[in-house]
Amino acid sequence: MMKANTPKQSRTIMTDMVLPGETNPLNNLFGGELLARMDRAASISARRHCRRIVVTASVNHVAFNRAVPLGSVVTVEAKVSRAFKTSMEVFIDVWIEDRESGARTKANEAIYTFVAVDETGRPIAVPEVIPETKLEKERFDAALRRKQLSLLLAGKLKPHEATELKALFD
Ligand SMILES: CC(C)(COP(=O)(O)OP(=O)(O)OC[C@H]1O[C@@H](n2cnc3c(N)ncnc32)[C@H](O)[C@@H]1OP(=O)(O)O)[C@@H](O)C(=O)NCCC(=O)NCCS
Repeated sequence: MMKANTPKQSRTIMTDMVLPGETNPLNNLFGGELLARMDRAASISARRHCRRIVVTASVNHVAFNRAVPLGSVVTVEAKVSRAFKTSMEVFIDVWIEDRESGARTKANEAIYTFVAVDETGRPIAVPEVIPETKLEKERFDAALRRKQLSLLLAGKLKPHEATELKALFD
């Protein structure tokens, strides 16, 4: 039995600023650049959880709620919210820091799925997650529903097998 980890144990925080080469014509952070930063932080978080090689299996949800202006200090925080057999859901919260007050504002969030693999790329089992805070518990509970939705959209799960999703409509 592998030792379970808390989300705190996989927490990964990357802070960096937005430079001119990383922006769109409105001088806001380019979406693809943010996706790459989130993928890096989430990948490190998944590795910390399972201590294996991990690959991005899917990007399940990304909300670009707020533009991130040139020069912003951006913090990307990733934590494994739930682990299944070989896959892990990683939740990413993105914050912008105000230059004068130092206060952090939530800018974006995303949910990625990583799969642990062996040296030949074959999926391999990962430890469980034990959520601690209220938010971690909420994210843990909803993760199975998101997994089923992602598999359904990918054509890897049949509608009648998506029990958690069906329960939403009953
Ligand atoms: C990710 C990958 C290992 C999955 O392989 P697979 O043949 O689908 O393997 P399986 O069917 O055994 O699935 C493995 C796990 O991934 C999960 N999974 C697969 N596709 C998924 C999707 N679209 N969304 C969510 N989870 C998914 C499965 O549910 C399973 O989870 P579980 O073991 O925790 O129940 C494989 O597709 C791969 O190597 N992809 C390329 C990864 C990569 O290079 N990423 C970088 C992109 S540039």
